[in-house]
Amino acid sequence: MKYTMQNLLKEDRLFSVSQRFKEGARVKDRSLFDLADNNYCDYWQKEAENLHWFKTWDRVLDWQPPHAQWFIGGKTNISYNCLDRHMPALKDRIAYFWRGEYEGCERMYTYGDMHEWVQKCANGLKKLGVKKGDRVAIYMPMIVEAVVAMQACARIGAIHTVVFAGFSSHALAERINDAECTLVITADFVHRKGKKIPIKKQVDEAVKDCATIEHVMVFSTVEESCAMTSKRDVWYHELVEGVANVCSAEPMDAEDPLFILYTSGTTGKPKGIVHTVGGYMVGAYTTTKYVFDIKDSDVFWCTADVGWITGHTYVAYGPMLNGMTQVMYEGAPNYPHKGVFWEIIQEYEVSIFYTAPTAIRMFSKWGADILKAYDLGSLRLLGSVGEPLNPEAWMWYHEHVGNKKCPIVDTWWQTETGSIMITNLPSIDKQKPGYAGKPLPGIEVELVDESGNQIQHGSGLLTIKKPWPSMLRTLWKDDARYRATYFRSPDYDTYYCGDAAAKDEDGNIMIIGRVDDVINVSGHRIGSMEIESALVDHEAVAEVAVVPKPHEIRGEAIVAFVILKEHILPDDALKNTLKKHVVDMIGAIARPETIIFTQDVPKTRSGKIMRRLLREMVHDLPLSDMTTLANQEVVSSLKEHYQFAKSRS
Ligand code: PRX
Repeated sequence: MKYTMQNLLKEDRLFSVSQRFKEGARVKDRSLFDLADNNYCDYWQKEAENLHWFKTWDRVLDWQPPHAQWFIGGKTNISYNCLDRHMPALKDRIAYFWRGEYEGCERMYTYGDMHEWVQKCANGLKKLGVKKGDRVAIYMPMIVEAVVAMQACARIGAIHTVVFAGFSSHALAERINDAECTLVITADFVHRKGKKIPIKKQVDEAVKDCATIEHVMVFSTVEESCAMTSKRDVWYHELVEGVANVCSAEPMDAEDPLFILYTSGTTGKPKGIVHTVGGYMVGAYTTTKYVFDIKDSDVFWCTADVGWITGHTYVAYGPMLNGMTQVMYEGAPNYPHKGVFWEIIQEYEVSIFYTAPTAIRMFSKWGADILKAYDLGSLRLLGSVGEPLNPEAWMWYHEHVGNKKCPIVDTWWQTETGSIMITNLPSIDKQKPGYAGKPLPGIEVELVDESGNQIQHGSGLLTIKKPWPSMLRTLWKDDARYRATYFRSPDYDTYYCGDAAAKDEDGNIMIIGRVDDVINVSGHRIGSMEIESALVDHEAVAEVAVVPKPHEIRGEAIVAFVILKEHILPDDALKNTLKKHVVDMIGAIARPETIIFTQDVPKTRSGKIMRRLLREMVHDLPLSDMTTLANQEVVSSLKEHYQFAKSRS
């Protein structure tokens, strides 16, 4: 089993914040926790009351496990709450400072600008025939237009499904088809490390296989044009010529779907996580406010791409629900130079910086000297998300980015949870490197063993005991999979997140990692079976088993054990071809780091691949229980193969 005591870290360093930080904090004591402990519905209701509802809810919660409905009967709109609710008071406040990746390319948009832009875009969508409940795919670079597109959908009640622009056209088509989207919103080019990548071309490739697509709406980012298919494709700027810049927000039922976001699971098919308007909005609003301890003067920078849940909740919605000023950067952390993140923090006086452990480990590898050229004095709070933040990386972040004065919120959550679930609020709890901390108010977690029995000490499966507003409601068109993946019979009332965790004596939680066949590469979730399906799609491949191995920077890397069809020559050229095939089928994030050609993989008598043994092998761990292994002889030869491959890499 992956979540054993040997994975536990011994850590006794504790860090507190200054008295000044505590005095100025939004949460000064445990009263919010007490309120939520007493009655979690009252707590969430109180938070929901801070937002605008066209009609107040009749009931806060209806919990028919495993299905929750929140704010039943309430009518609201998240785009209204991000924009109209702040008018006219925040009309001139900067909503986004946007930095393009090439020198001197920067723009800023006020809340007034965003309000007008989103309304115009919403009218453009209507002109294309998009209606409430229609699905719209968004495949965009990190430009403010992506947020505009999301909010425009939300404004008219269309359900957006953002697909990370690093996914291949094949992966895009798969998601468009599953959601039966009628429109794709995209841009002509993405700027990436000095190159212009023709993203619209990827969409053209994808929609060839998508029967439901009626239109492709394209934002122009460079002056060159891209090929447009007449009648189907429209330039955004031409579409909105002459359209009104007022579009009132559609009163949405609290339980109407807001978006679908695909994430990886244990089968080859991605899961369409469904979030609804009211509950998601309350979760995004509340967690942004408390976890980041926000102030009017803050400049918030979450580096996540809008294609992931972090970019949804903490770039597109949460900060805007709170009227915050944000920074958005189009480019990579090492382009045009390795100090670009620090340059941005200095230039826009970023006060809250939220990034991924992978990035922190990369920065530490590049060395602290790079940071010395910049003034990072504006920073007051740091955050981390997506994978375990190991103590060494925590300390580096604390010392070199935070100058030993900024608290770090290590936030645990998932696409499914919609918003942050576990983290220590630095104003009331100490920070412990390697530990996410304690659940937020209204969230009750429990560690259990395989049979569901509570574990008081040590490690176990992380479960969530009570429903919360921003929880996923179902999987798109697959409620049976929702029930089977996240809940267990007979009660179906406890959410199993798929992670193992451990608790210290003070109740701080350390996330150990996934217990299913999901790999976390640089904070991106990829299913082993998704990669296996992509590899067996290649004509040379007979069978595959994919497992993660530890990686110094990326947390985990992908190792594929590949059995070739007879008479196929196992050479390095084929390895590269297969890696490219995975990139074409899924995207660069799924590229296997190591491919090992083998004659066989360990299997049970019923023919199921025993990935557990392969995982142990690549982690250099002793192999555990082999009683169900049918082909014993394969293990020693594979071990040799693997050691040989390792010595060559
Ligand atoms: O394994 C956990 C890891 O990321 C998974 C969720 O991935 P995703 O849905 O893509 O969302 C990522 C951003 C919210 C979790 O099941 N994870 C997320 N945050 C942490 C983490 N692992 C350790 N520490 C965290 N702070």
